[in-house]
Amino acid sequence: MSGAPAIESLGVREALDAALGAQYILAGDDIGERYRADIIGKYRSAPAFLAKPATTEDVAAVVKIAASHDLSITMVGGQTGTCGGAIARDGGIALSLERMNRIAEIDTISMTLTVEAGCILQIAQEAVEKEGAFLPLDLGSRGSAVIGGCIAANSGGNRVLRWGMMRDMVIGLEVVLADGTVVSSLTKMIKDNAGYHWKELMIGSEGTLGIVTKAVLRLRPNPLTNQTALVALPSFDMVARLLRDLEVSLSGQLSSFELMWGEFFELITTAQLAARPRPMALGHPYYVLVERLGGDSLVDAEQFERVLADQIEAGVIVDAVVAKSENERQALWAVREDLRGGFDPLQPCSVYDVGMALVDMPTFVTEVQHNMEAAYPGAKLVFYGHAGDGNLHLVVSVGKDRAGNEDDIDRVVYETVQTVGGSIAAEHGIGMSRLPFIGLTRSEAELALMARIKQALDPQGMLNPGKVVAL
Ligand code: LAC
Ligand code: ZN
Repeated sequence: MSGAPAIESLGVREALDAALGAQYILAGDDIGERYRADIIGKYRSAPAFLAKPATTEDVAAVVKIAASHDLSITMVGGQTGTCGGAIARDGGIALSLERMNRIAEIDTISMTLTVEAGCILQIAQEAVEKEGAFLPLDLGSRGSAVIGGCIAANSGGNRVLRWGMMRDMVIGLEVVLADGTVVSSLTKMIKDNAGYHWKELMIGSEGTLGIVTKAVLRLRPNPLTNQTALVALPSFDMVARLLRDLEVSLSGQLSSFELMWGEFFELITTAQLAARPRPMALGHPYYVLVERLGGDSLVDAEQFERVLADQIEAGVIVDAVVAKSENERQALWAVREDLRGGFDPLQPCSVYDVGMALVDMPTFVTEVQHNMEAAYPGAKLVFYGHAGDGNLHLVVSVGKDRAGNEDDIDRVVYETVQTVGGSIAAEHGIGMSRLPFIGLTRSEAELALMARIKQALDPQGMLNPGKVVAL
């Protein structure tokens, strides 16, 4: 043992400085804006400390210090969340793993990536691609979202219909528990049924049960071809039919099916006119961005076009534009992903990611428009989403009436979700803003079970308090 004083006898600042080095601890006003809010900007917090550990042992040391001083710990990452899940408590510790961003190993035989939690998703995607492999997780915020945040939120995004959510890609995990214990299972085994799969509890727990420090992610062979098209459809029935037809006719290789309602398409493409021409005429009720990632460069492109031609013949789609180059592919994806200018006229607005059975989507859309109009006459609602996963996004703008009514606007949306038995949080989690509404989606028994799990793993309630469970 060294002669260093016990953690308990030091002040928090001294203990953190001693554990990580003073240059990696910031306090009070020295903590930058980016660590205080998320992209939605609804919350802004004043953590007492920001700690930037370099190793898992550093993280464990910070957790022990926090525990002994009864301080909360919240992970701050890319801050691309939409419901206040990564907002530290005032007076608590914000923990950023930005120094823990290393790629430890890319194993192209086992097809695994071993990576630290602070690595940015896009950097991981590109590193893997250089080795001829493919990390299927893909989100609009790929350039700032970090792997640890994607695990904490169980991120979804654009390719869930083929490769699943983050949960389906996490093979091994290392976490630090609330008492500072490091639990590590950085295995590369896909099948492992030796008892409880504790990692599943951690994935999607939004940092309330443990702190993810490292992960082993499942990779896939890099697809050899990609085909992207924008198609227009006359009705929701045809949207559903196209989805099922393409799953079959593209031999299980349909990788994205991004649905956009007509108003969304008009808003976004109009805002983009200065940058690029509108890729298709306005006036259709539905547009879908379809992507297929395939393995046969001789036949895929031709087959893709033939399949779309058949769908036109059958009256399922009424127009189609197929990207002929990487530039055209990016221009089509921009309609779905470059939303900033298009949503500007809707500001201030509320953004949702609700889940439901595909069959309930048209009813939900009609009902939520009706309910919102009754509560906020003139409200504007715009719909889009990952239809293949039953994940609908909607943006609600009630103009200047929004101030002070944010929670009430949420309530109108979430109560409508409840009428179709849907989920208030399909892919962005519960965070803070949805906690008052979780009972619309989860039963009393489920909430009690969640509380027992939280109590068992974090009895002091120090890990990201105020999120997911009301403890
Ligand atoms: C998207 C985000 C909102 O899919 O999840 O664009
Ligand atoms: Zn989404």
